[in-house]
Amino acid sequence: MLPGRPRLSRAERVAAAADVADLRRLARRRAPRMVFDYVDGAAEAERSMARAVEAFGRVEFSPRVLRDVAEAPTAVEILGRRIAMPVVLGPTGFTRMMHRAGERAVARAAERAGVPYTLSTMGTTTAADVAKAAPGGWNWFQLYVVRDRDRNLETLAMARDAGMDVLVVTVDVPVAGARLRDVRHGLTIPPSLRWRSVLQAARHPAWWFDFLTSEPLRFATVDGAPSDLAGITNMLFDPSVTVRDLEWIRSAWQGRLLVKGVQRVDDAKELAAVGVDGIVVSNHGGRQLDRSATPLELLPHVVEAVGDRTEVFLDGGVRSGADVAAGVALGARACFVGRAYLYGLMAGGEPGVTRVLDLLHAELVRTVQMLGVGGVAGLGPDAVHLR
Ligand SMILES: Cc1cc2nc3c(=O)[nH]c(=O)nc-3n(C[C@H](O)[C@H](O)[C@H](O)COP(=O)(O)O)c2cc1C
Repeated sequence: MLPGRPRLSRAERVAAAADVADLRRLARRRAPRMVFDYVDGAAEAERSMARAVEAFGRVEFSPRVLRDVAEAPTAVEILGRRIAMPVVLGPTGFTRMMHRAGERAVARAAERAGVPYTLSTMGTTTAADVAKAAPGGWNWFQLYVVRDRDRNLETLAMARDAGMDVLVVTVDVPVAGARLRDVRHGLTIPPSLRWRSVLQAARHPAWWFDFLTSEPLRFATVDGAPSDLAGITNMLFDPSVTVRDLEWIRSAWQGRLLVKGVQRVDDAKELAAVGVDGIVVSNHGGRQLDRSATPLELLPHVVEAVGDRTEVFLDGGVRSGADVAAGVALGARACFVGRAYLYGLMAGGEPGVTRVLDLLHAELVRTVQMLGVGGVAGLGPDAVHLR
């Protein structure tokens, strides 16, 4: 009789994951459905998210042959500093809900991989604790402008005191997007043990054990009794923010300033005129306005309009190192990733995030070698087009 397939431990399964999709499958098994869906889902009919991912499927590479690609350096310089590869771990809220190791684990994995990590205003770990966990990392802070203006200044001071020198202001959440999976699950933050979740708990005992026995899940930066996500967003966030507010943020913040959530060329031009250090072409991973512009398609137009004045980044749909190569070839200084690292975190905590970063790096190296460009610095528009 043939021997059966060996039963692998969770850690072995994470280490054996061949791509981010494998980690997503593991995450789906490990986390309760409503937690997985909070990460995996998007707004309304989820068309923006599907299109963002699908756009990478339309990438066609034009490899050069007979080039010396023995070396394939991936390091790039962004905002005046070198990073190991053109990847930024983007801001995600409630990260300790995905895994008790939360933001600290993500920051540590980013530190080891030599890429920046962005702590969200809606994070469940303070800026000081992130800095303590990853003192040698390049830790950034993401700001949502809240109604209480003094509170914004206090938040900026906390980030600065924690040594964070890059501020990412997210501008695509004037009001909460309609995340229908969360509505259908009746998701509350933190999750509460109601009848449905009791049934789910039986299927995910390890997650619920961790959740109920670890530090209580709460916002580390914003006040307010967490409950339904859309409610708290609409209560806290200021929907009257305009470009003029960026000017006071600019004056209150001495570090670098990026604006995340730009979805039109004319908005990009307006922001470049204000003097921001970078623009993140993003539709919030499709979690806000459904059917908004697809980041990968919009990217070259924004780069052409403002790329000589400000650094342009891509965010949305990145699931592999080949996707990163395509984004950089189309003009991005680096690509933000969101769900990809959260799948790793849900699948296996810090080693899961590290596995994602290792995969992205290996895929990026392989892609630039096969493209015949020898390194990330050689990526340009002639290496790729969208079918
Ligand atoms: C679970 C989750 C929480 C998020 N929370 C935030 C947040 O607090 N602030 C923010 O600017 N963006 C947030 N985002 C958006 C991400 O920063 C990023 O724009 C998006 O995930 C990119 O798409 P991708 O997941 O396809 O990489 C969140 C995304 C996810 C999946």
